[in-house]
Amino acid sequence: MARRFFVTGTDTGVGKTQVSCALLRALARQGASPFAFKPFESGMSSLDAPGDSLALQAAAGGWQSLDTISLFRFRAPLAPGIAAKVERRPTSWARLLKRFSAFGRRPGVVEGAGGLHVPLDARHDVIDLMEALRLPVVVVARAGLGTVNHTTLTLDALAAHRLGVAAVVLVHTQPADEASRYNPAELQRRFPRVRFLGPVPFERDGAKRARAFDRVTAGLVRLPQS
Ligand SMILES: Nc1ncnc2c1ncn2[C@@H]1O[C@H](COP(=O)(O)OP(=O)(O)OP(=O)(O)O)[C@@H](O)[C@H]1O
Ligand SMILES: [Mg+2]
Repeated sequence: MARRFFVTGTDTGVGKTQVSCALLRALARQGASPFAFKPFESGMSSLDAPGDSLALQAAAGGWQSLDTISLFRFRAPLAPGIAAKVERRPTSWARLLKRFSAFGRRPGVVEGAGGLHVPLDARHDVIDLMEALRLPVVVVARAGLGTVNHTTLTLDALAAHRLGVAAVVLVHTQPADEASRYNPAELQRRFPRVRFLGPVPFERDGAKRARAFDRVTAGLVRLPQS
């Protein structure tokens, strides 16, 4: 169990922000004032309203200014590294690392963008950021047909980079399909040492959905030393 995480996914739209918010709420409940960090965010109509970063800010307790959560924002619904070129908005790897070090040893959550090989700039993919930060990784995967393949590819890539996995969280972002019944057992058979959590049920109501994510991820956050 840990108190700092990098939340990544097998893809975009799989539930990373929901899982990140649940982890932040758990840390905040323990009185931690956790940091939230979503350095790259794309796909927003107004640059003043990055949806993921605002959700993370609220989940962490609202103490952090938006500019320390969200560094590089793009309007286009494109991978950040592509959007930066299209919108001619430069990013800075050095600034990103400096911002992260300012969090010190504080507990918190970094949310990536899309999956491991989403380009962040001309030289770095998400996995390069994970290598630079070296936090325990939480992988979020959409439960359903295709998940065994996507999750296997993701876990193999993380192992090749010697990145430690705290858990894989399976999420029903859609009502359950037949394949999702078989996902947990097949994944556990392939990766006996990895902790698989969920699946988080599909839930239309926002408050109930948040509680479902809280329940599934509750065991991931270590209690502070007394
Ligand atoms: N269990 C669930 N039940 C219903 N809807 C869900 C569930 N989990 C996620 N969703 C919805 O699916 C969408 C994608 O979730 P989320 O934003 O957490 O994904 P993400 O991986 O962070 O996406 P991105 O790659 O854009 O950052 C959201 O609209 C979210 O509310
Ligand atoms: Mg997100």
